[in-house]
Amino acid sequence: MTNTNRHKILIFDSGVGGLSVYQQIQKRLPQLDVIYFFDNEAYPYGELSQDVLIDRVELFVTDLVKKEQIDLVVIACNTASTIVLPRLRAQLTIPVVGVVPAIKPASLLANVAVGLIATPATVTRQYTHDLIQHFSQDKKVELLGSTRLVDMAEEKLRGQAIDLQELSEILQPLIGLIDVAVLGCTHFPLIKDEIQTVLGSNVTLVDSGEAIARRVESLLFQNEGIPHTSSLYQPLNKILSSAPPWKEGALNERLSLLGFSPIQTYPLHLDV
Ligand code: DGL
Repeated sequence: MTNTNRHKILIFDSGVGGLSVYQQIQKRLPQLDVIYFFDNEAYPYGELSQDVLIDRVELFVTDLVKKEQIDLVVIACNTASTIVLPRLRAQLTIPVVGVVPAIKPASLLANVAVGLIATPATVTRQYTHDLIQHFSQDKKVELLGSTRLVDMAEEKLRGQAIDLQELSEILQPLIGLIDVAVLGCTHFPLIKDEIQTVLGSNVTLVDSGEAIARRVESLLFQNEGIPHTSSLYQPLNKILSSAPPWKEGALNERLSLLGFSPIQTYPLHLDV
C-alpha cells in the first residue's frame, strides 16, 4: 500500500521506560513507523555523568536519524531530556521532542503538595529546579530520586513481580505529605499500578506520556491532517539496543505484545 503521509519516528531511552511513551504515541497515532532504541550499555542514565550522557545520546541519535531516515525524535527519558535537547536541536533539522517532569499540571492539581519521583540525576538537575520555581511557586515539591525504582520497572518487563514491601520502603518519605505525584521518569508509568497501591488512592499520579503523544501529532500532522489508517497498513516497528539485553527472551515476549519483532543490537561505532 502506498501512503504518502507515512512517517518514521525514533523513540530513545536508556532502557524500557520509553515504552510507556511509545504506548501513548501508538494509541494516538497507530499509523507511525517506530524505531525504538535503548542505550542499555550505559544504563542507568540516572547515574551517568552529564558529559558522557550528552555525548552518547548525540552520537546514537544523529547516527540513527541518518541511517533510518527519521522524521522526528522523541527523547523518551527525563534524565537525558533535562540536559541534551539544546545540543540535539543544534545538530538536527528535524523536530526533537523531549520528556520532562510534569510539574506544571501536577501543581495545578495539588491541594497539599507535589511529590516528584524521578532518577537521582533528574531531581538534582538545574532544569528540574527551574521548572519547580516557575510552575509550582505556591505548592511545595518533595523530591525523591531512586534508581532501584527504575530497575523494578526493567524487572517487571521481564516478567518479575514487584515486591510491594520494598516499593513501600522506597516511597515512604512521600507518604502522608503529598496529594499529587509526578512520575518524572518514563520507567515509572510501567509500575504505575504498584505505585498507586503503595501511595493510596487519594494521591493522583501524573506523567507526561499523553502530552508527548499530542505534541508528536501536532508536529507531524499540523499541515497535512492525520491519514486514514487502513487494516492493510502494517507499521514497521523495530527495537534496537546498544548491547545485548539482560533476560532477552522474557523481554522479547513482552515486546512482541507491543508490536515489536525481536531486539537487534546496534552498537555504538566510536569511529564517527
Ligand atoms: N527512563 C529514564 C528517565 O525517564 C532514565 C532511567 C535511567 O536510566 O536511569 O529518566
